Amino acid sequence: MRKLLIIGHIPSSNTLRLREAVLCGARKIQSEIVDLDCKTPFEANALDTLSADAIILGTTENLGYMSGALKDFFDRTYNETIEKKEGLPCAIYIRAGMDGTGTRRAIESIISGQKWRLVQAPLIFRGEWNEDFVRQAEELGEAICAGLDAGIF
Ligand SMILES: Cc1cc2nc3c(=O)[nH]c(=O)nc-3n(C[C@H](O)[C@H](O)[C@H](O)COP(=O)(O)O)c2cc1C
Repeated sequence: MRKLLIIGHIPSSNTLRLREAVLCGARKIQSEIVDLDCKTPFEANALDTLSADAIILGTTENLGYMSGALKDFFDRTYNETIEKKEGLPCAIYIRAGMDGTGTRRAIESIISGQKWRLVQAPLIFRGEWNEDFVRQAEELGEAICAGLDAGIF
């Protein structure tokens, strides 16, 4: 079995919808070999990362940076996971009121330190809420799960 770990910060109904859409997209694959594990950054720990075969990270942008919740996850798990998951396929989505670039840079920097592998360009859901964000989030979950299922990652 392979595990797709989805870690999404959900401080609002919109961000909950985004995380649910990612999960829904992954479920569409109906894989018999990929287990889905969906958590908030507060719930996730180093063992979750160590047992993952791919990871999708979702966060809001707050004050030009990733959410404190996601940063806390990295702070708690970095030392235990560093150099143990080299090449881990990873994807990111960011919900940002108006920007998102600071968050993208910060996460990419951590991912690069971890030597994880971004397998899709980060999605930034910027500006006024748009129902198309949900479709894109669903496609993200579907694509990453399909990649794991097919052994592409
Ligand atoms: C304290 C705080 C700081 C924020 N800082 C930023 C920011 O620096 N850049 C940005 O694009 N959005 C910022 N936002 C907007 C959030 O990203 C947005 O409220 C969040 O993604 C939830 O979006 P929603 O209204 O669609 O649920 C901030 C929101 C809060 C509450």
